[in-house]
Amino acid sequence: MSWYHDAVVYETHVRSFADGNGDGYGDFAGLTDKLDYLVDLGITAIWLLPFFPSPLRDDGYDVSDYTAVDPRYGTLEDFARFVDRAHRRGLKVITEFVLNHTSDRHPWFQRARHSPAGSSERDFYVWSDTPDRYGDARIIFTDSETSNWAWDPVAGAWYWHRFYAHQPDLNYDNPAVRQAVVEVADFWLDLGVDGLRLDAVPYLYERDGTSCENLPETHAFLKDLRAHVDARYGGDRMLLAEANQWPVDAAAYFGNGDECHMNYHFPLMPRMFLALARGRRDPIDWVLDRTPPIPPSCRWGTFLRNHDELTLEMVTDAERREMYAAYATDPRAKLNIGIRRRLAPLLGDDSRRILLLFSLLLSMPGTPFVYYGDEIGMGDDLDLPDRNGVRTPMQWSDAPHGGFTTATPYMPVIDDAVYGYRRRNVAAQRQDPGSLWNAVRRLLHLRRDHPALRRGTTVWHAPDDPALVSFSRRHDGVSIHVVANLAARPATIQGDRGGIDLLGGGPSPTGSWTLPPYGVRWILEDR
Ligand code: BGC
Repeated sequence: MSWYHDAVVYETHVRSFADGNGDGYGDFAGLTDKLDYLVDLGITAIWLLPFFPSPLRDDGYDVSDYTAVDPRYGTLEDFARFVDRAHRRGLKVITEFVLNHTSDRHPWFQRARHSPAGSSERDFYVWSDTPDRYGDARIIFTDSETSNWAWDPVAGAWYWHRFYAHQPDLNYDNPAVRQAVVEVADFWLDLGVDGLRLDAVPYLYERDGTSCENLPETHAFLKDLRAHVDARYGGDRMLLAEANQWPVDAAAYFGNGDECHMNYHFPLMPRMFLALARGRRDPIDWVLDRTPPIPPSCRWGTFLRNHDELTLEMVTDAERREMYAAYATDPRAKLNIGIRRRLAPLLGDDSRRILLLFSLLLSMPGTPFVYYGDEIGMGDDLDLPDRNGVRTPMQWSDAPHGGFTTATPYMPVIDDAVYGYRRRNVAAQRQDPGSLWNAVRRLLHLRRDHPALRRGTTVWHAPDDPALVSFSRRHDGVSIHVVANLAARPATIQGDRGGIDLLGGGPSPTGSWTLPPYGVRWILEDR
């Protein structure tokens, strides 16, 4: 087992977390000061959204310099200090590797458009004389783009982009691109980064007559990258695929244990919400039945929310309609093929339902990812464009701007009657034993203290009541039985063996007993 099998990953944006120098932007100094907060919460790894120089037209996923830090967030020295301080506290660091595309401001693109057609410099990107090639590739940002091609008047040619038109795709058929990209990975791994999230990784290559996703060439490149990383760094660095695909295609990113160490389970995430909306476990059963076994060295990354919209790409049309009806009642919440909301507003700020999903996330197989602010039930701002509404500053206290900064923040702190920082903040919840923060922390600490919850084999049960999700995690002679009621009515468990109720404390009943609406038990079984 490696560190990522035992990890709980906390996803945050440097810009959004804590401002250390009073300029309104979060920075590495501020983040470093908050490391003790994360350790206390029970986090073991941090995933940082892009912090590289960028025109910020896709919040940093439009990189204009791969090997520098945006000066608003600090310097490379600040970054190195942050990594060192994180490591001293036993925290691992995962950074973004946006390898599919760059910003159109990147010097590689500027050089490409001015270089002669056919030169290696021009061929850093994918060009065409017509916008008709690769017509079978879908459009991802359906709300803003109508084609995957954009015209460049300087080059006098069309260039390929899977995301925004200002994000030209790199041309992986060019060996110089592959070499340059591997050097970027080395740059960050040399600085001590423990894991790289491979952004938008299914789209690296294009081939006529295909969807231009998950191509064999992409897998071959990733296997080469993995071999390089293992050889150069000795095997404890982690590659995390961001492959938003159906389970079988997603599992292909593990290879035979020789490709990516991790990949997110995108199809599971919306089905956890769907199961809750239906009050039935069948969507979860359905997707787990279709999830193939993976090599023991590999891990699914599980999550409830992240910095993007709650994507509904990996559900059927009927399920998508059901999800929109249940969770996007405000039409402003819809974005592309998804719902741009945070966890608490999605669940009507019902702490029972929020804790139900957290307790499944933290007990089901996989390595869980927690999105910053969800541990206090932060809200979102639907008036902000794109996905910015779920990327507002962290709410630390009831001080001005939520204690995030002493200056005007880069984006307004949530200040409404329900989710506003004056009422909802870390300081207040830390002091309140009944708060969401304390409940989430308790779950995280139980997971830390019970290896069965992290490493255990999983046996799924099929209780008579379809509202119940029930499974056991077993490791080293210890068995923890998890049972959760997805319904808004009580549900009865039959024939239970009993044990210690880890969440409530004290013994758990044997035989037949009832879970309240949205109730959960983690039962340490007597064996
Ligand atoms: C990231 C998005 C980003 C896109 C393009 C995604 O996978 O999570 O935030 O807009 O890649 O880089």
